[in-house]
Amino acid sequence: MPKRILSGMRPTAKLHIGNLLGALENWKRLEGNETFFMIADWHALTTEYASKTPIKSNVIEVVIDYLAAGLDPAKSTIFLQSLVPEHAELSLLLSMITPLSWLERNPTYKDQIEELKAKDLSTHGFLGYPVLQAADILLYKADAVPVGEDQLPHLELAREIARRFNFLFRPVFKEAEAILTKTPKVPGTDGRKMSKSYGNTIDLSDSPEEVDKKVMQMVTDPARKRREDKGNPHICPVYFFHTVVNKENHETVAHECSNALRGCVECKQEMSKHLRAFLKPIYERRKEIEKRRSQIRDLLIEGSKKAKAIAAQTLAEAKDAAGIGI
Ligand code: TRP
Ligand code: SF4
Repeated sequence: MPKRILSGMRPTAKLHIGNLLGALENWKRLEGNETFFMIADWHALTTEYASKTPIKSNVIEVVIDYLAAGLDPAKSTIFLQSLVPEHAELSLLLSMITPLSWLERNPTYKDQIEELKAKDLSTHGFLGYPVLQAADILLYKADAVPVGEDQLPHLELAREIARRFNFLFRPVFKEAEAILTKTPKVPGTDGRKMSKSYGNTIDLSDSPEEVDKKVMQMVTDPARKRREDKGNPHICPVYFFHTVVNKENHETVAHECSNALRGCVECKQEMSKHLRAFLKPIYERRKEIEKRRSQIRDLLIEGSKKAKAIAAQTLAEAKDAAGIGI
């Protein structure tokens, strides 16, 4: 039986190849089910509220990235969180029953405050991030949520909140399962995890020339200083991408690297060629879709209407169970 699937991304930037390999490809594979893919703009605001760039400026870009990556709007409902106000309302309702201690011990809360020190994240909204995420999931009574490992604590919280609500009032919500993404963490051009906040991304909107430039500047095995030094491909981001875009040859690459039989410059050139071929159809589709921005806007509004029809029903049930309203 097809399952109901929901997932989302924060529109804090245009999407990169880490988002593609870590999430979008997985989402695409799930499209035989009843799939809902959200753009979580309220969630973006929890960390970007002081930014000069409005969240709005990335929303349509992210929809274009979704479509360029191959999501099919005839199969998936693509919608914007803030166009479905039920998310905010259910989040408020769930906040009434969510113990503070659950939120304070959430590992991503502590990690992010530490990691994003430049931003003041000691806000009510940021502490409540997983409550809003629980609302996203529970409104649709989703069976499963495809996420990366970093999101597992949030999914577990959503399940705990559902259980607590169902116990306190009556069973309204479903406990969603995680569908874990198999792709290991995608490294950025500097070898750290690919992330917009590190400025080390290769974006789906980068031209082949930009991709090539970024690849040629990538870090390699830092211990390999000279051509004669043997390398360790397993700590090299260039090699990681060989395993993705040059599957037939990556073992040869590893062998030659480990035995100093290839130089890093030629290794990068070879990888860049494959990566550009891999990204080219996405880049070209993106260029085509960009010409139809107003249609993309309409698509998002339509998707949000569809989402709202379901969300409104669940919210009504939840409010009634909690004894709020008339
Ligand atoms: N928190 C998720 C992230 O940062 C984005 C997100 C918001 C999400 N709501 C969701 C993911 C609901 C899955 C389900 O990646
Ligand atoms: Fe990385 Fe290739 Fe250089 Fe080895 S040869 S360190 S895999 S770039």
